[in-house]
Formats: sequence, C-alpha cells, structure tokens
Amino acid sequence: MTTVTVRVPAKINLQLAVGPLRPDGYHDLVTVFHAISLFDEVAVSPAEADSVAVSGEGAAQVPADADNLALRAVAALRAVTGQPDTGHAAVAVTISKRIPVAAGLAGGSADAAAALVACNELWRTGLSQQELCEVAATVGSDVAFAVLGGTAVGRGRGDRLTPALVPAAQYHWVLALADGHLSTPEVYGTLDRMRAALPAPGGRPPGDPPHGGPARPPIPPAELSTGVMTALRAGDPGRLGQSLSNDLQAPAIAMFPALRKTLAAGREFGALGALVSGSGPTCFFLARGASHATDLAVSLSGAGVCRSVARASGPAAGATVIGSRAS
Ligand code: C5P
Repeated sequence: MTTVTVRVPAKINLQLAVGPLRPDGYHDLVTVFHAISLFDEVAVSPAEADSVAVSGEGAAQVPADADNLALRAVAALRAVTGQPDTGHAAVAVTISKRIPVAAGLAGGSADAAAALVACNELWRTGLSQQELCEVAATVGSDVAFAVLGGTAVGRGRGDRLTPALVPAAQYHWVLALADGHLSTPEVYGTLDRMRAALPAPGGRPPGDPPHGGPARPPIPPAELSTGVMTALRAGDPGRLGQSLSNDLQAPAIAMFPALRKTLAAGREFGALGALVSGSGPTCFFLARGASHATDLAVSLSGAGVCRSVARASGPAAGATVIGSRAS
C-alpha cells in the first residue's frame, strides 16, 4: 500500500478588493494572494471507502464526513479522471493541521488542494498543475491558489489566477491568531449590508431613492492595487506595508471589534503594515526582517491582544508532494 504525503501552505491576501455581489451569491473580486510558511500536511492512501481523519490545530471544528473540503476535492478529481470510488481508488485522507480553522488563512482550501495533488500522484492520473487548478476551482474559491502557491493575482471568485512575475524576495510576517472564528459568507454579508447603508451621493439617506430620483450608483468593479504590485516588483517591504488593503477588514472588525486593538498594537510595535487576513479574524503584520519579526511576535504576544502568535515567511511553494512511501 502506498501513502502519499503533501505539504500545503496557508495564504494571506496582500490586497482583497471586493466588487459587486453577483447573481450566483459570489462577489467579483481582485486579490493578491501570498502563500506563507505555515503548513498543513495531508496524506492519502488506498482504502475500502473514502474517509478523513483530522488532528492538530482546531481539528475538532473540521467536519470529518463528506462535507470535508478535502473529501469533496477527492470526489471532484475522481469525477474528472474517471476513477471508481471503490477498490483501489477509495482513499483514507489524514490531515495534520497547523493552519487554524475559519481564520481567514484558507486552511480548508489548502487541505482540499493537498488532497488533489496527493490523489493525482497516488492514482498516477498525471494532471498538469493547470488542470488541477481547474478542478480546484470547482471545489472552492481559494483552492486553486493553494495548488499554485507563491504570489498570484486572483480574479473572478478568486479562482482565475495569474502568477505575479516579481523578483524573488522573502517577506517576514507575524500572525496574530484570534480567540474565535468568523464565517466567510457572514463577513461578505456584513460588507453588503454596510455598503447598502452608506448614504447615496448628494446626502440622500440609505434605501430606495424617491420615485424619479437618481438610482444608487452600482458598486464599482474591483481593481488591482498598483501600490501593492509596484512594491512587489521593487521588493520593497516598506512600500508593501503601506499598500496592504482588504475590503473585508471593516466588516470583520464590525463583527469582531477586538481586532481593532490587535491591529493598533502591531502598528505601535513598528510593523510596516497591519491587516486582517481574508475574512478574518487572523491579523497579519509585515516586519522589516527576520529579527524584527521575532521582536514583533514577542511584543504582540506580551500585549495580550490575541490568542497566540506565529511567525511565517513568504512566498511559499504551493501544495508539494513530500513523501511517497510503500508499506
Ligand atoms: O468559494 P468558497 O466556498 O470558499 O466561498 C465561501 C463563501 O464566501 C461563498 O459562499 C460566498 O458567500 C463568499 N464568497 C463571495 N465571493 C467570493 C468568494 C467567496 O461572496 N469571491
């Protein structure tokens, strides 16, 4: 029996610009994904029937049934490659978590991406990275990026990816992990409500315009941040720190007000930039270098503004096979 093990990174969003709500319930967005050195490990081996076992950080909150995103990814790959779901093509998936759950770090999506890469190896189905990204996009908006890794611009739901052609530079990050969770759909829903409650131009109160009055202008399409891309091209952490932005930060703070204090503490301790990651509640901070990251992590942890802190560097590689062992 062969066991294939894949290592897969968490992500942060250096920019997350959210455009209008689409009829399918998703938002068109433009985001700059960045994979960081905080990894889950996912192992797959042949079994009588599909199963998943989860251990490590936040394991109790991860569904261990067919709702598990990794098992959904296995089913999606099987459907594309024509593998049967019995005999040698059923798999036991084992997930060792270090990426916190429901934290805005795409941990569930990472596990799904790892399961795709692992089954592609186990079944010798030989899909290219591009083909795996296409299957990944059917499983969740962030799954394709976890296959790819590095730094990439995501459009559409976040699944249409273009790798950022930027010089090799390592950035040093500190994560403040929160004592709680946020649901991604709820954070998007809060953003929609906050936008609907903004006064219309001309000081009109929120709500429908009076009969014959001007309609509220539509939410403009999201645009790629030139600040973030210029900073990445220059490998300039100072400029990158100043350019970080996330449209989900305000709704995440509205739902989890303690984040305001966490972000302020990181800025006070000299972070070059501070931002809520994805839909939160993790906050991340950009340090000047490796030793500043250590100082920042110590200061944040001493300030009592989060559950725990973690250091990570980026960009990190996407889902990668790290072992294939016959027993
Ligand atoms: O694709 P995924 O399952 O990760 O998305 C989770 C939820 O986040 C969606 O159901 C939707 O409510 C919200 N979402 C969104 N627009 C996106 C991505 C996610 O509204 N581009």
